[in-house]
Formats: sequence, structure tokens, C-alpha cells
Amino acid sequence: MLYLQGMEQLLKQIADYKNEIETFSATDAKEIEEFRIKWLGTKGLVKNLMGEMKNVANDKKKEAGQLLNEFKQYTEAKFESLKELTTDTPQLTTNIDLSLPGDSIPVGSRHPIILMRNRIISIYQRLGFAVAEGPEIEDDWHNFTALNLPPHHPARDMQDTFYVQQNPDWLLRTHTSNTQIREMEKGKLPIRVICPGRVYRNETVSARSHCFFHQVEGLYIDENVSFADLKQTLYFFVKEMYGKDVRVRFRPSYFPFTEPSAEMDVSCFICGGKGCRICKHSGWVEILGCGMVHPNVLENCKIDSNKYTGFAFGMGIERPAMLKYDINDIRLFSENDVRFLKQFTSAV
Ligand code: DAH
Repeated sequence: MLYLQGMEQLLKQIADYKNEIETFSATDAKEIEEFRIKWLGTKGLVKNLMGEMKNVANDKKKEAGQLLNEFKQYTEAKFESLKELTTDTPQLTTNIDLSLPGDSIPVGSRHPIILMRNRIISIYQRLGFAVAEGPEIEDDWHNFTALNLPPHHPARDMQDTFYVQQNPDWLLRTHTSNTQIREMEKGKLPIRVICPGRVYRNETVSARSHCFFHQVEGLYIDENVSFADLKQTLYFFVKEMYGKDVRVRFRPSYFPFTEPSAEMDVSCFICGGKGCRICKHSGWVEILGCGMVHPNVLENCKIDSNKYTGFAFGMGIERPAMLKYDINDIRLFSENDVRFLKQFTSAV
């Protein structure tokens, strides 16, 4: 009778266990592992039940063995389905609190000088000007002599120069006009370029002036280029930069590298020309120097001045940027104070 008791017990036990397993559900990997240990581990209940085989009579062993195997497979299948559930929906098994604020990713911002430079460049690019760059450490020829400023020319005093101690022929360029010369010397005509860059002058640093700053130079050389072309180019620039209501005036001026030369003012875009602190109550703001390239400069670069003419202009970047962003101290541009720099996040 022993075997009957054994079989009955076995069947009842399997039924109870199946019931328990059937209704079991897990919410995380830890609970699944606990399930595995409890049922399928080396000291688990499945193994334990297998041990009951010894209470089963010999002629029933086969039947009991089948039942136990089937029960083992059932338990393993449940275990697999529990695992699948958690890999399909991993968020159920992690401890991440999705309601917490995320880590912020700091985003850099462009320097205001670069923003203003890019804006100036994009306006001239629309007129077909290409961008050219020249060296900041320059020789006397490209910065002065070729630009019709021979040694001892008094106009050299207009730009107080930093010289390189080891070689008196080398200096830090005082203007971007050096790049005009370098472009003309390449010998490919016509030329239509703008040349942005940093320039240096030995000036006392204050809220209004610095020993280095930035300029954009423009140069157009071709047959039949006239002063009218220069004016139209600059009118276009002013309209794009400051709007169509701004007025423009040219004043005669002197630069050794241009003849005739002029300076261009725009009506004060802060007060509309009525007069304010920015325009020193004149109603006008000076923005650039310009003129027709001097024949001597063309000849210095081996360009036939009887055949070709051209215009040039040079403007600072700091001043328009200061006016645009209401910056009252030029030194802020080079102090690298993040509190200042991070304010310029969008394009101009
Ligand atoms: N190089 C001049 C300066 O730094 C600016 C300038 C004036 C550039 C007239 C030019 C020009 O090309 O034609 O003050």
C-alpha cells in the first residue's frame, strides 16, 4: 500500500505546487532569482520532489517519473516566461526614479565678436565676396611699405606698432590691410574678398580702447571699378546691417593706401539721429574707412594700374558689437568671464 500513498502524496503535492507557481508573478529581477532558487536551485523544491521517487513502487516508477519530469518542465517554462517579461520591459526592473530632473548638458555659446564677424561676413558674401585671412605676425612690407607707407612716412604714427624684438622687420599687424597685399600678390584677377581678423596696436587699455581688436577689410579689384561701386556696396551693407531707415554720409579723409579716401558715418541707430551719449550728440556714428586703391599699391603688387582699379574699406568689429549688445567696456571681450560670455546664446 505504500506506493499508493506515495503516488497520492506525489500527485497532490504536484497539484499544490503547480497552483502556487501558476499564480506567481515577479516585478523585478530579484524576485525572479528568488523564484529560481526556491524551485529550480540545487536545494530547490523540484529537486526535493524528485527525491520522493524512492517512495514509489517499482511498477509505478515510470509513471511517477513522467509526472515529475512534466512538473520540472512546467516550472522551467514559467521561469523562462518570467525572464522574458522583464527583458521586454526593462524599466519595470530598474530602480531609476523617472520623476527626478535629468542631468543638464551645458551648451556653449559663441563669442559676441564672432557673432558680429559672422554677420558682417554673411552680408558681403551675398554680394559675391570670398573670405581671405592673413597672418597676425607680419613683415614691414605687407603691413606698411606695400600699402604706400614707406619707412619714415608720418602716417605710420597713426598706428602705434608692436615690433618683434628678434627681428625689427617683423611686427604684429596693425590692421587687416596686410591681407589686401597678400591677395593682390597672388596675381589672380579680379579680386573680391573680405578679410576678417585680429589686429594689434600699442595703446593704453581702457574701457574704450584695447591693445588688440578685430577688423574686417574689404577689397575689390577689376577693370572699371569706380567709387560708385564702392558706395553701392557699402549702402547695401548698411541697409542689411542697420535697416533701411538708417542714413549714410561720406566724409573726405586720408589713408596712404587709397586715393580718394573717405570715412563713412551712419545716422545714429540708437537715437535715430537726434543726438545721444553714444553718438556724442552729433547724430552720426563713424563705422569705416574706405577709398579707391592707390595706383602705387596696385603697382607694388605688380597689377597694371592703367588697366585695373579697385576699392577697399576697413571696419572695426568691436564697436558695432558694443552698440548692438549694449556693452560698455571693450575689456569684457577678452576677460573670458563666463557670466559675460554665456549671455550670447543666439545668432545676432
Ligand atoms: N586700415 C585702416 C585702419 O586700420 C582702415 C582702412 C581704411 C582700410 C581705408 C582700408 C581703407 O582698406 O581703404 O585704420
